[in-house]
Amino acid sequence: MNAFHITGGIPLRGTVAVSGSKNAALPIMAASILAEGPVRLEGVPRLDDVDSLTAVLGDLGVVASRTADDALFIETVDDRPIRARYEWMRRMRASFCVLGPLLARRRRATVSLPGGCNIGDRPVDLHLKGLAALGAKLRMRRGYVVARAGRLVGATVDLLGPCGPTVTGTANVLSAAVLAEGTTTIRGAAAEPEIVDLGRFLIAMGARIDGLGTSTIQVDGVRRLSGVTYRVIPDRIEATTLLLAAAITRGSATITGVLPDHMAADIELLRAAGFELTSGKDHVSIRADRRPLPLEISARPYPGVATDVQAQWTALLSLAAGRSRVRDQVFPGRFLHLAELARLGAKIRRRGNTARVTGVARLHGTHVTASDLRASAALVLAALAAEGTTTIHAIHHLDRGYQQLAEKLTSLGARIRRVVGSSVRGDRIHTG
Ligand code: EPZ
Repeated sequence: MNAFHITGGIPLRGTVAVSGSKNAALPIMAASILAEGPVRLEGVPRLDDVDSLTAVLGDLGVVASRTADDALFIETVDDRPIRARYEWMRRMRASFCVLGPLLARRRRATVSLPGGCNIGDRPVDLHLKGLAALGAKLRMRRGYVVARAGRLVGATVDLLGPCGPTVTGTANVLSAAVLAEGTTTIRGAAAEPEIVDLGRFLIAMGARIDGLGTSTIQVDGVRRLSGVTYRVIPDRIEATTLLLAAAITRGSATITGVLPDHMAADIELLRAAGFELTSGKDHVSIRADRRPLPLEISARPYPGVATDVQAQWTALLSLAAGRSRVRDQVFPGRFLHLAELARLGAKIRRRGNTARVTGVARLHGTHVTASDLRASAALVLAALAAEGTTTIHAIHHLDRGYQQLAEKLTSLGARIRRVVGSSVRGDRIHTG
């Protein structure tokens, strides 16, 4: 298992560019099943999750390969396979996004239920409810969703769940409705930029969609969708993680290639924490030269602070001058990082969906273990600020969702060594 050795206490300085959005790229890749021609996707990050979905698509007769200029070229070579295996679904939940496109285009799908996950309960009832409303016949068989449909038929569906709208559920239903007969109205739809991006991709292929970015999306079904060239949006979660890295080390950094509007809630909170932030069309800069002020944060659906940066915010606030509260309204149990932050000296108590954080003056390096993708990022941030050296175990979680995070942080002055297996290989980063 790989680990990071991080020597903390170095203020990050410089400029770094973000990669394309993981959570936009994955449903867009899945929706490429709908196209009657090749799709060229630009800005797809190089991540383990992208490789896993590439394998799922390969099983489904859809070949995705990198071009010389790093775009992802996706082409259906066989439109008969309909089975998405547990082996892949177990690794990555976003693979479930093939269900809607398969049903709409091939009229049949056998898709494994996604595996468990370390961030809490993650049902798919809303995905299935939405597809059933469009006329799909669904049944469960040995851990697989077995689905059939004639041509899907437009309907009104409500995807609002107990913790808000479902992001990938909206992706699944939207990607099915585009080929349905007649009009579909999705109420309680996710308004996340990643869903807007999926919608724009579908529109570029010929779909007719209104209301993207609001809670009601209307779709007028079309008979076919064509291949297209499309650029995926920048990763707002990665961008915010990098801003928080600069903040926690009391550094100054400029993050480029971003859409600042997508990070408005985080930018406002960083200002409230006492830091200086400026932004332009495609960059955000931060100057931080003191401990953060304490904050009350609630992770909510967009345009709120994303649950995917809740852990990273908690790391920052563990060093605040005072008491903070961090609530997660989307995944009320997404707090496995708290125990590991405590090992570094953070003072945090959890009550229900809220972490109560009493800021400490400093954290101290030690051994910690990552439990999931964003918890790993939180531990990296804490380690960058901690005195001495921190070893973060199980960093394979990080490779699922951040393209070269260690290299990007190193370019800003961080001291990070990747340890492959149990041995440290030199003082440079090894990505083996
Ligand atoms: C997406 O997951 C993201 N994944 C997650 O990012 C992100 O944390 C999450 O949205 C929330 O923003 C991708 O986009 C690939 P949900 P998703 O369905 O779609 C409940 C990361 O770190 N719910 O929006 O699976 C659910 O339990 C990942 O990059 C139901 O009740 O999340 C949760 O409380 C992790 N029934 C809430 O809705 C359902 O059928 C939101 O979950 C589906 C979900």
